[in-house]
Amino acid sequence: MTSSQLLPVVEDFVQLCTDGFLQGWHECNGGNLSYRLRPEEVEQLRKSLGKSATSSEWTPLGLKADNLAGQYLITTAAGCHFQNVAKHPLNTTGIVELNEQGDAYRIVWGFADGAAPTSELPSHILNHSVRTEVTGGKSRVIYHAHPKNTIALTALLPLDARIITRSLWKVMTECILVFPQGVGVLPWMMPGSIEIARASSKLFRIHDAVIWAHHGLFVAGDDFESAFGLMHSIEKAADIYLRARSANKGSDDFPNTISDDDLRAIADRFGLAVNEAFLDDNCLI
Ligand code: 13P
Ligand code: ZN
Repeated sequence: MTSSQLLPVVEDFVQLCTDGFLQGWHECNGGNLSYRLRPEEVEQLRKSLGKSATSSEWTPLGLKADNLAGQYLITTAAGCHFQNVAKHPLNTTGIVELNEQGDAYRIVWGFADGAAPTSELPSHILNHSVRTEVTGGKSRVIYHAHPKNTIALTALLPLDARIITRSLWKVMTECILVFPQGVGVLPWMMPGSIEIARASSKLFRIHDAVIWAHHGLFVAGDDFESAFGLMHSIEKAADIYLRARSANKGSDDFPNTISDDDLRAIADRFGLAVNEAFLDDNCLI
């Protein structure tokens, strides 16, 4: 059975991996992706797998996500190269089921030839848990990539969410529309650790994008399109910021930027729940 016969959403999952690779965001095994299945997709999966369903032993997660108990996630495999996902979905992706305590998982499909879920599974699980809660269950996609301009920003700017968000908002009009709550920022931390997972999920309570200094970017979305679009917008704005700064002899004192008044005007016109703490208060409404 092909993966798309198994579940049509796998095709969209695979497509995002290819699209991200083509953007240059996934050198080597960089990046990972997960999708939280809808109840009807779990039903369909059970039917499709039927008697051929195989489940591995339960593996402890080292954390607890109560609101994900019994849920299913598609994830990329640890060490997989995104450029190979479309060619070999069975080896580079798989589906895991979480137990009734939300503290262990088992493989129900994929991860062929001894593959295992991404090493960033703790971050994916805790970020899903928080985003599921704060969006009333709408959020389904968590996507991690290594986009170069976003990473370069963290070598240059103070690792401060307000400063980095404003740097992006003020160079490209679309930014405040796409991420009105701004981006969260973490200092360098150990990849794959429970600590970075906990720190990220705390920031995902407010933001739907979190930058990991000198590493990459995590985003959340209701669907693949919105997660990809958020990653793309942040990375493009970082590119514009860096280009403007190098053309300005390295100075951040740009002759022109979008003013706080204009940012607020965009927020008002489109009815955005903008992060007020990231706007200057002394501007006119
Ligand atoms: P995985 O290959 O385990 O998904 O790790 C890649 C990565 O980007 C770690 O942060
Ligand atoms: Zn990474």
